[in-house]
Order: sequence, then structure tokens, then C-alpha cells
Amino acid sequence: MKYLLGIDIGTSGTKVALYDSGAKRICAKTIEYPLYQPRNGWAEQDPLDWWNATVEGTKAVMAKSGAKPEEIAGIGLSGQMHGLVMLDKDGNVLRPSIIWCDQRTASEADQINRLVGEKRVIEITANPPMTGFTAAKILWVQNNEPEIYARCEHILLPKDYIRYMLTNEFATEVSDAAGMQLMDIPARDWSPEILEKLHISRSMLGSMHESVDITGKVSRKASLETGLAKGTIVVGGAGDNPAAAVGTGVVSESKAFTSLGSSAVVYAVSDKVSIDMQGRVHTLCASVPGKWTLMSCTQGAGLSLQWLRNTVCAPEIAQAEREGVDPYKVMDALAASAPIGADRLLYLPYLMGERSPHPDPYCRGVFFGLSAKHGRENLIRAVLEGVAYSQRECVDVFREMGVEISDMLVTGGGGRSKLWRQMLADLYGCPVSILDSDEGPALGVALLAGVAAGVYSSIEEACGIAIRKDVVLEPDKTANESYEPYYQLYKKLYLSLKDDFKTLASL
Ligand code: XUL
Repeated sequence: MKYLLGIDIGTSGTKVALYDSGAKRICAKTIEYPLYQPRNGWAEQDPLDWWNATVEGTKAVMAKSGAKPEEIAGIGLSGQMHGLVMLDKDGNVLRPSIIWCDQRTASEADQINRLVGEKRVIEITANPPMTGFTAAKILWVQNNEPEIYARCEHILLPKDYIRYMLTNEFATEVSDAAGMQLMDIPARDWSPEILEKLHISRSMLGSMHESVDITGKVSRKASLETGLAKGTIVVGGAGDNPAAAVGTGVVSESKAFTSLGSSAVVYAVSDKVSIDMQGRVHTLCASVPGKWTLMSCTQGAGLSLQWLRNTVCAPEIAQAEREGVDPYKVMDALAASAPIGADRLLYLPYLMGERSPHPDPYCRGVFFGLSAKHGRENLIRAVLEGVAYSQRECVDVFREMGVEISDMLVTGGGGRSKLWRQMLADLYGCPVSILDSDEGPALGVALLAGVAAGVYSSIEEACGIAIRKDVVLEPDKTANESYEPYYQLYKKLYLSLKDDFKTLASL
């Protein structure tokens, strides 16, 4: 029997999942870890938490599945994008990882414009300087922790740190590295010009690969720690969104998905590099060789709901415990009892600043229209709607750029909510579907490993075997019309508050 292993280094936890060669999941284990917010707008995690979760998850999966380590034909790695991991010459972690949703780097984004030139940075990296991308984070360490930068010999993305721990190799691949803002995106390689202008040595960065390339093999040391067989191949893999693209079959033009995880992402594949000069959506390399992607990122999607659960929804948590169900299921049912518009309550999901379609490190979350009459059903519904409005705003940008979106797949934990999916269908005005088993990024990179191991002849063949659509929700025209005035007001609120957010940040 041949198996494939997918490891996804997420924000709330790491998922290790084992699949057979028919892409059927044999078993999976998720190990959670904390997110640290030392200051308003900062977000960090401990790379060793990711590694410990990988080891524990792998051991659990191997023990439960009964698979022999030698039967694993390949391993794929996926992970949260843009995070900065810095290692010293001996491979020790130098500081906590500054992760994707951290927003401390506004002045470093300006610095990139000054060092490279506003037009040139877009020509090369396909995006204006982004506070969330890795380059600005590297400059922040250069500027604020020069003693740490002086000791830094290796710069890695989250999943590439796990690759190093598994294989002893410093390597990355195009889909994730594209979000570092250090690459020449059309050329699919590091940009010598950007590196020179940002004073980053090429020797600090890993070797560049395509997602399906073999990047190393499990070392003896990692084999002893994880129980995996020494010599098992590890492929490039992908950032979590381009990995989800493979896991949902979004691997060619005219296909798109919306992912509802900690962040929410709209992702479409393109045969060419097309750029939004305002940086409302990102242009990155796809996990499929020779293809690129347009991708939006709402920073506080599931994160908003998680925050609401933890701060406000104690009764729903208690009810869920009594009934043995997920608290989000109870919250979802409550939200369904509130009307469209949440009885005139709007939510702007900017808990961690925003990237799409408003690249803005200063904005923060807003409940607008709060009344003494509102209960938790309105708060929860407003959060679900606010995240959905943000997706619609991003889809509007995609459409403005000529991307045809006439059918949308929904993936990620939030996709389990029928209410949330129906909101997307109603707001997009197109059918929204889910997959019969939503495995997301872990499956995506397991399939990439299967291609490298010769289990599948191509990514397309792998997707054909793995992916089946399940429920399709049609848009409801009446609901679409009812959402419209709220959506228009939602869009106006950001523009009205833009300057006030900046003032608030300066207090
Ligand atoms: C994408 C992004 C997030 C993270 C979350 O640009 O920052 O989707 O990848 O894991």
C-alpha cells in the first residue's frame, strides 16, 4: 500500500493527515498552539510550537493508521504564508516568528518604496509593498533588533522551517516565497535587485523550487523524532492558499475558491501575471508550474468569529459543551434567527488591520449601529455578514480586473456553515459549492507529493481522482436585493473612517 502525508502549519494549529493513493483520508490529527499579541496589531508564534505539533501529530497519525513508515511515498508541506522565521548559524530560532496578520511594519513598507522605487517594486514583485508580507518584517528586524539581524543566517517561511527540521535542507517553493516580496514574480525566482536594495543576502534564503519538486529527504534525526522513515521524500508543497487550490481542484483559469479560515481568501488562477496597481488584491505564483494567481486576503475572518466566541459567547460555549457539539454550530444557529442586516447592525472585520481590498495597517474592527435591543444573535450575524461583505468587495475587484467568477467553491472551517455559504452565494450572485470531503491544504500538498512520487502523472490527474463537488447553493435574488443597501453602507463606512483609524492608532 502507498500513502501520502500532508502537513499544514496553520495559525490555530498544525494538521497532519494521511491519505491513500486514491486520495481517501485514512486519518488526521490537529494539534493547537497559541498566538501571541504582545501589542495591538502585533502577531507572533513560536516556531518550536509548530515543530512539536508536527512531531506529535505525525506520531499520532502513524499510530492510529497502522501504516508502515516505508509505505509513505512522499510528504507535502503547507503553511500560513508570509511569516518570518530567523535562525542563527546553528539553526536555532532567534526570535518568535512575526506572522502573516502582524501589522507593525507601516514605516518599513514606506521604506521599501524609498529603497526600490514605487513603480519598480510593483514591476518586480507584482505587488505594492505590503505590511503583511515578509520583506517588511525583515526590515523591521533590521531597524529595531539589529543585534538579532546580525546573528541571523537563515530566513524561512513557517512551512520551510518544518522542512528544515525534517530534512536539514534550506529550501522553499514559488507559491509561498512569492508572498515574501523578495521574488521576481514573472521569472519565478529571487530578485537580485530587490535583495540588494533591501540589504538582504541571497545566502540567507533557501533554494527556490516549484511546488511539485523534491526538496529533500527525511533525515535520520527527524526519523528518530517523528517515526517517519529516513529517506522519505519531501516536496516543495505550497502556502496554505495555493495548497488549498490543489486540494479543491482550482488549478486552471476560470476556477476560483473562497476560503473561510482565520483569514478569508478569494483565489483565482491565471495563465499570465496581472496586477492591481492599488494592491487591493495580491498577484503571486501559483502552485502549478507556469501559472500565477490573483488572491485577496481579509485578515480577520474566522479570527473575528473566534474573538467573538471567546469574549462574548460563554452561553453558547456552555450549551455546546452540554450537547457535545462545536460552539460555532450553536453560534451559527443563533445567527440564523436574526434577519438579513442583523437588525441594522454592521461589522467591519478589521481586528488585525486589513489587506484586501483596503491595504491598511491602522484600521480596526467596528460594530456600527449597536442598539440596546441587540442580542448575541445580532452580533454573531453581523460578524458573519461583515466577513461576507468583505469577500464581495474583493470579488468586485476580481471582476473589475476581468476575472470571470460564475461559480465559487467554498473551503476552510467556515465553509461548514450553510448560513455563511448562503450569504456568499447571495452576495456574489452566483452558485457556491463545497466538496464532498473538504480536506483543504493538507490534501493539496499530499497530492503534490503524489505527483513527485509518481503516484499520479500530473496535478490535474491527482485533482481528478481526489475531488468531487457536493452541495451547490444557488443565489437567492430576494436576499441579494435585501443585502444590497447594507453592503453599500458597509463599503462607505471604511472610507468614512479611514482617517479616524489613523488618528486612533496615533493616540
Ligand atoms: C494570505 C494570508 C493568510 C495566511 C493564513 O495572504 O496571509 O491566508 O496564509 O494562513
